[in-house]
Amino acid sequence: MKTTPEAPIIAGNWKLNNSPSEAKRFFAEFLPGLVYGRPGSLLFFPPAISFSASRDSLADAAGVHLGVQNIYWESSGAFTGEISASMARDAGAEVVLVGHSERRHVFGETDRETGLKVAAAFDAGLAAMLCVGEKIEEREADRANEVVDRQLEAVIAELEAGQLPSFSVAYEPVWAIGTGKTATAEDASAMHGHIRNRLVESFGPIGATVPILYGGSVKPANAAELLGAPDIDGVLVGGASLDPESFAAIWDARP
Ligand code: PGA
Repeated sequence: MKTTPEAPIIAGNWKLNNSPSEAKRFFAEFLPGLVYGRPGSLLFFPPAISFSASRDSLADAAGVHLGVQNIYWESSGAFTGEISASMARDAGAEVVLVGHSERRHVFGETDRETGLKVAAAFDAGLAAMLCVGEKIEEREADRANEVVDRQLEAVIAELEAGQLPSFSVAYEPVWAIGTGKTATAEDASAMHGHIRNRLVESFGPIGATVPILYGGSVKPANAAELLGAPDIDGVLVGGASLDPESFAAIWDARP
């Protein structure tokens, strides 16, 4: 069973960017300048079609982890266009991203489907990172906690405490994704504390060990403040993970 990489986790979600040859160019530029020294893990979610090019580029890079952006919950069959958790595992993935807001709001993924996907990831021996987060109108209506609780409950109802070393959460307020608006470190910390409390209520003290990442317009300029704030165990970065220099600066910003 794959476990969640060591925190702080600096994760890059490439979304629909970086073809196989572009992924190779990214790593050729990114890897040579990397400085390790302090604890932390790098994790990339390339598009599935660029997974093997990414894996080959990382052959000699210690401590860099790879995941996939999405899976289907069935392991095989007549599901044109989908990939399964066992295929992702066979290709070398360690982690599956589940319930990203673009999956939920562009592709209509439901809470029930996120639960099925996390269960499928665990069945295939993969770790799962669940994305949760409220829309702007939900925050303005003071419903952020309620929305995040609902998204979390749909998945933690399916989990057992023994699976937690393979589970992580990414809090990504929808209004902060790709908009240049970042939650303040205080707002993000407050939500992370709330999520952590829910995990402890459900699983006891071991619930507190689940890493909780923040995502939404993370940049070199705000990464150190976010990563230094209480209960923020890493960042999930979209736009700024496409530029090797920016992503290396975010990696260097960890405490
Ligand atoms: P962003 O995306 O950093 O471009 O806001 C974050 C994400 O969607 O994971």
